[in-house]
Amino acid sequence: MSTPGGQETFNRMNIRIIGICVAAALGGFLFGFDTAVINGAVDAMTETFALGPALKGFAVSSALLGCAAGAWFAGPIANRLGRVPVMLIAAGLFLASSFGSGLAFGVADLIAWRVIGGLGVGAASVIAPAYIAEVSPARIRGRLASLQQLAIVTGIFAALLSDAFLANSAGGSLEELWLGLEAWRWMFLAEAIPALVYGLAALRLPESPRYLVARGKVDEATKVLRVYTGIIDVGDRIRAIEDSLRSDHRVSLRDLRGSRLGLKPVVWVGILLSVFQQFVGINVIFYYSTTLWRSVGFEESDALTITVITSITNIVVTLIAIALVDRIGRRPLLLVGSAGMFLSLGLMSIAFSQATLVTAADGTVNADLQGGWATTALIAANAFVVFFGVSWGPVVWVLLGEIFPNFIRAGALAVAAAAQWLANFAISTSFPAFSEIGLTFAYGFYAFFALLSFAFVYTQVPETKGRELEDMTDDIRVR
Ligand code: GLC
Repeated sequence: MSTPGGQETFNRMNIRIIGICVAAALGGFLFGFDTAVINGAVDAMTETFALGPALKGFAVSSALLGCAAGAWFAGPIANRLGRVPVMLIAAGLFLASSFGSGLAFGVADLIAWRVIGGLGVGAASVIAPAYIAEVSPARIRGRLASLQQLAIVTGIFAALLSDAFLANSAGGSLEELWLGLEAWRWMFLAEAIPALVYGLAALRLPESPRYLVARGKVDEATKVLRVYTGIIDVGDRIRAIEDSLRSDHRVSLRDLRGSRLGLKPVVWVGILLSVFQQFVGINVIFYYSTTLWRSVGFEESDALTITVITSITNIVVTLIAIALVDRIGRRPLLLVGSAGMFLSLGLMSIAFSQATLVTAADGTVNADLQGGWATTALIAANAFVVFFGVSWGPVVWVLLGEIFPNFIRAGALAVAAAAQWLANFAISTSFPAFSEIGLTFAYGFYAFFALLSFAFVYTQVPETKGRELEDMTDDIRVR
């Protein structure tokens, strides 16, 4: 790679490219914040609007359906208007949802505003990996694309802290805080701040060079590539992008079609990566943590502390993944992650087979673990978060940004991300029913998918470390 002016310029390039990737990854921060903010508000909402269990469940999970729709539509919009406009639309949706949910009159408009926020989350979940992969130099693309997951887990953590801070300041989430509004309303209103920062940051971002070439704006694409990669002679790269686009017609979802079960093999790889990432049950740990920690013997008040510790663990292991992803590659991380998740989930399943069921005063049934088995379950659950966070958490988002050919990236990523949100919805809404059958069954089910995910990665997932996006073809092979 030719860099003008040696090391100093090279460093400046790196700072510029990191800067625009961090700005795009802010979408991930909102993704994490928006999906987690509801945890602190849900009980107060339930009381304010006198919600029954079914409506309460729907008020929480309906946003995930919005996410699936947002992911789906982000693809065609990104192809038509560009990558940056999708970020601006997502920021607008977050802002509207923040005010709408915070000032909701009743449960119907609250759900509607949560779904609107979900549309933003879905769109952000597609556009950040696509944009980052498209502007990054191949040798550090994995690290830059992992910023998305770092932003997601930081967003989850920030929502947890913000909810706790607001509830504490008011003396309870149902108490009035400022301007006559209760603390739970401020939890949603707080999201307006990161939403504004994201929108303002997106306004300053250059458009993706791959999109610009697709639109015939070669001069602009050349300028962006020069400024952000430091490569002076970008002619070869532009030609490679042009070849990869087969730009003689308008891209549409129809281009994802192939002979294998109706879709191109690589699109199936993307969909299955997404489904496995959710079917190992990671969000059960994040969405139902109180039940889990209570069952291993902790008081409700300690559950928050443990959830905070789990979130910090998740952030730390993401940093480890960032350090490794461009060195050892995507496949080794995923394989180690699958093996570790299988063992830790299997251990949880065994531990819960030793539980006794206790019926609480309100009629809910909790598993109760004693002594050594409680410690085993606690350690196994944290080991699971570590194995997930160092592998499938970040690497799936990295791969979704890079495995698809330029020609179909936005559309294929949209389909894969929509599948991920539906899988998330399926797993998180089925958990209460699963745990009624028994936690041994629930964790055994997730362990089974962790095992399958190993075989899937081993046989189907290509190594993309260091490869240019233009080298990814429809039928990329393993290794
Ligand atoms: C990944 C998943 C997301 C999950 C998060 C937890 O980003 O896509 O569903 O909440 O990891 O770390």
